[in-house]
Amino acid sequence: MAPTLDLEFVRAHFPALADGWTIMENAGGTLVPTQVIDWLDGYLRRNQVQPGAAFPASAEAETKIHEGQRAIAALIGADRSEVMIGPSTTMNVFLLSHAIRPWLKPGDEVIVTNLDHEANNGAWRRLAEIGATIKEWRFDPDTCELAAEGLRALLTERTRLVCFTQCSNVVGVIHDVAALTRVAHDAGALVCVDAVAYAPHRALDVKALDVDFYLFSLYKLYGPHLAALYGKRELFQKARALNHFFIGENDIPLKLNPGGVNHELTASLAGIGGYIDALHERHFPRSNADRRDRARQVFGLVADHEQALNAVVLDFLANHPKVRLNGSRDPSKATRVPTFTFTVPGRDATEIPQALLNDRIGIRAGDFYARRAIDAWGVGGRGGVVRASLVHYNTVEEAHRLVAALDRVL
Ligand SMILES: Cc1ncc(COP(=O)(O)O)c(C=O)c1O
Repeated sequence: MAPTLDLEFVRAHFPALADGWTIMENAGGTLVPTQVIDWLDGYLRRNQVQPGAAFPASAEAETKIHEGQRAIAALIGADRSEVMIGPSTTMNVFLLSHAIRPWLKPGDEVIVTNLDHEANNGAWRRLAEIGATIKEWRFDPDTCELAAEGLRALLTERTRLVCFTQCSNVVGVIHDVAALTRVAHDAGALVCVDAVAYAPHRALDVKALDVDFYLFSLYKLYGPHLAALYGKRELFQKARALNHFFIGENDIPLKLNPGGVNHELTASLAGIGGYIDALHERHFPRSNADRRDRARQVFGLVADHEQALNAVVLDFLANHPKVRLNGSRDPSKATRVPTFTFTVPGRDATEIPQALLNDRIGIRAGDFYARRAIDAWGVGGRGGVVRASLVHYNTVEEAHRLVAALDRVL
C-alpha cells in the first residue's frame, strides 16, 4: 500500500512550528527545515572565506556552493549550468529581460498576462521601450484560468515570447504548462513560466514541460531568500552577457548574474535536497531512486495530503453564503494547490486576518503583487483579497481550525 505523509515526522523538521501558531501565509514564504539551517550554520562557521582558493576552508566553500546549486538543478531535472541562482524572481526576470533584448526587433510581440504576479509582468512590459508590442492574455474571470484559446487568438508570426504562470499566487489553479508551451512553440514563440506558487507543492520537471525559461523562489520552497531561473542551455548561451567583460560567453549561468551568487545562502540550498531525501528515506526506505525520482515520490505524497487540505477548506469557502471564492471549487490535486483567496462583499479584506490573531492563525490580505488580477476583480480599494495558503506541513486539523475560526468571524 502507498504510504501517506507522516505529518509528525514532517513537522519535527521545522523548528518555527514549535511556537504553536498555525502558519497559513506560506505562499508569501515558507518555513525552513533543520537541514537548511544546518547547512547555513556550517557554512558560516567554517567556510565564510572567498571560495575557490586552494586552502581547505575555501576549497570546501566552493564544493558546498556547487552542492547547493546541484541540489536545485536536480530537483527540476536540469544541469547546474542551466540554473541561475539570483536574489529574487523579480530580479531574475529583470536580468533575463535585459539579456534577451538584442533578440527583439521593433514590432516583435511579447505576450504577458493579467493573472501573473508583477515579477513576470513589469520587466516584460518595459520592452515596449525598445519598440516591442506588448499583448495581454487575460484570464477567464469565472474559472480564473488562462485558456489556450485566449493565447491562440493573440499569437502571430511576430510573437517572440509568452510569459505566463504555472499557478497564480492568488488563485491556486494549476495550468497545463506543457500544453500551453506547445501552443506557443507551434507559433514559433519562446515561453517564460513563473512556477513560484507551484514549486512548493509538486515535483518539477523542466524537460518534460519543454519550457524555455522557468522561475521559482527558493524562500517559498523551504529555503533561504534566493530564487532560481532555469534556461535552456542554447538560450542561455545565446543571451547577452550581463557580467564583467572577461566572463566568457560560455560561462553560464555566471555571465547572466552580475555579482555572482550569495555564497552562504546558495550552499544552504543543499539542505532542501537533504530535507526531501529525509522524507524519502522515511516513506520509501531502502530505495535506489535518484534525486529526481525521490522528489517525484515525495511530492506525490505531498499532493495527496494537499488534496485532503483542499477538501476541508473548499467545503467551507465554496459553500459559505457570504464568501466569494476565487478560482476552482474542485479539490483535486491535479487542478489546484491549497492557496485560497476570497472576498466578503461589504467587508474590507484586511479585517479578517486581524480577527484570526486570537486563534493564533496567520493569514493575510492584500494584492500580493498580483495587482492586475486584483484590479480585474475590482477589489483593490477594499483591502484586496483574503489569502490562506497551506503547504504540506499544515495538518488537516489545522485546516479545520481555520474553517472554524473563519466561520466565527464572517
Ligand atoms: C507567483 C509569484 N511570482 C513571483 C513572485 C516574486 O518572487 P520574488 O519575491 O522572489 O521576487 C512571487 C512572490 O510573491 C509570487 O508569488
